[in-house]
Amino acid sequence: MQTNNNCIVIFGASGDLTHRKLIPALYNLFKFGRLNQFSVLGVARSELNDDTFREKMREALLQTEETTPETLEEFCNHLYYQAVNTSDAADYGKLVPRLEELHTKYQTNGNTLYYMSTPPSLYGVIPECLAAHGLNTEEEGWKRIIVEKPFGYDEKTAQELDVQIHRFFEEHQIYRIDHYLGKETVQNLLVLRFSNGLFEPLWNRNYIDYVEITGAEAIGVEERGGYYDGSGAMRDMFQNHLLQVLAMVAMEPPAIINANSMRDEVAKVMHSLRPLTQDDVEHNLVLGQYTAAEIDGKEVKGYLQEKGVPSNSRTETFMALRCEIENWRWAGVPFYVRTGKRLPARVTEIVIHFKTTPHPVFSQNAPENKLIIRIQPDEAISMRFGLKKPGAGFEAKEVSMDFRYADLADDQVLTAYERLLLDAMKGDATLFARTDAVHAAWKFVQPILDYKEAGGRVYEYEAGTWGPVAAEKLIAKSGRVWRKPSGKMKKKV
Ligand code: BG6
Repeated sequence: MQTNNNCIVIFGASGDLTHRKLIPALYNLFKFGRLNQFSVLGVARSELNDDTFREKMREALLQTEETTPETLEEFCNHLYYQAVNTSDAADYGKLVPRLEELHTKYQTNGNTLYYMSTPPSLYGVIPECLAAHGLNTEEEGWKRIIVEKPFGYDEKTAQELDVQIHRFFEEHQIYRIDHYLGKETVQNLLVLRFSNGLFEPLWNRNYIDYVEITGAEAIGVEERGGYYDGSGAMRDMFQNHLLQVLAMVAMEPPAIINANSMRDEVAKVMHSLRPLTQDDVEHNLVLGQYTAAEIDGKEVKGYLQEKGVPSNSRTETFMALRCEIENWRWAGVPFYVRTGKRLPARVTEIVIHFKTTPHPVFSQNAPENKLIIRIQPDEAISMRFGLKKPGAGFEAKEVSMDFRYADLADDQVLTAYERLLLDAMKGDATLFARTDAVHAAWKFVQPILDYKEAGGRVYEYEAGTWGPVAAEKLIAKSGRVWRKPSGKMKKKV
């Protein structure tokens, strides 16, 4: 593992992600003593200077984080700013003396972490402009570049982007961030599966009936209508976050936990997804868009009335898909995946539905065995099984054994951005998406994009409901139903 002494250069420093996620994550790492020698250089077009940038970040931190005046002051002293016209290669020359000065001041030996928190149109431009001034070479210290999502817009543009970035940065320098991989509970999936003798023998087509993955959000598109409309649920959540979660559920145990062996296994899952046929996109896919409704006595806008959304938009804010993985472990096991905005609750969870007993000895409606893995917001694992209902006869009743993450008491859990920023500084790419997996994911979803492009149906659903009725029908075809999780995993889910 390498040192995390470095200068973090954030492109898009005046943007939303910087003050909402990146600076708070760096602040907390600093507060908990995880950063040693470091500086942060904000870069954007806005004409700020060190003082005005510090002031903006200070205000943002005061609003969201628990701060003390001393730590806040000390942290802000590590923040710097350089205005650059980010589409003009010559202007990047201004970064050379700035970086030299910061590396000398903080003794960071040339180690530089670039974070592209800009509109995606700059993802191909920034590496080239950095290279024009030799700021990509690793002669003095390491140089790494974090690429925010979306990595490409479809299969073709993702490949083009890869080619553009690879002209100036090698794969070992590129960190494609997917913040779902930074979530403690997503990583816990691996520990749950591979450090217990109990689950793994059952984790296959012989014992599992089907798998449900839900990434539900109660919020609408908020202020991001402009971005979201060009993206939709498929590109915004499914192609990256949910496919990565699916890969964690389905992957084979890596020989060891390191960036290569982990990501080899993830890539294998992506490559094994059964390609979607015309029939699949017509019958195993449901796209939806929310319409206005009243939720808890409050009027909620429909998607078409949101700021930045064209009134005739066909962008999906919901999608549900039945897919399969063609390999020895999973052949024939359906994976039902859904995601959407303006659903009844914010909840991300995985449900492993085990097969029922071969013969119902006690009652026709014996409870199903399920393992519910709640990724967020109230991280938990719940095992469901049947026990005898007290009293006469032998009626079975569903009971649960629950574990809640909050019970792990005082361990300080890093947020996704804290964890991933720290990993990138340490040179650990295990939890970052690798190029082959990203391309395989795009290849898999391309038929969905084509279907949409060709005018495929987008159903309406009322805000505050679990999506279009068609999504219920999709899963009901095989006699199954979606779980309707509540946002709160209290004592009993
Ligand atoms: C982002 C999407 O990547 O993930 C957002 O762009 C979405 O639209 C968010 O709301 C969900 O992340 P989380 O961590 O809140 O589940």
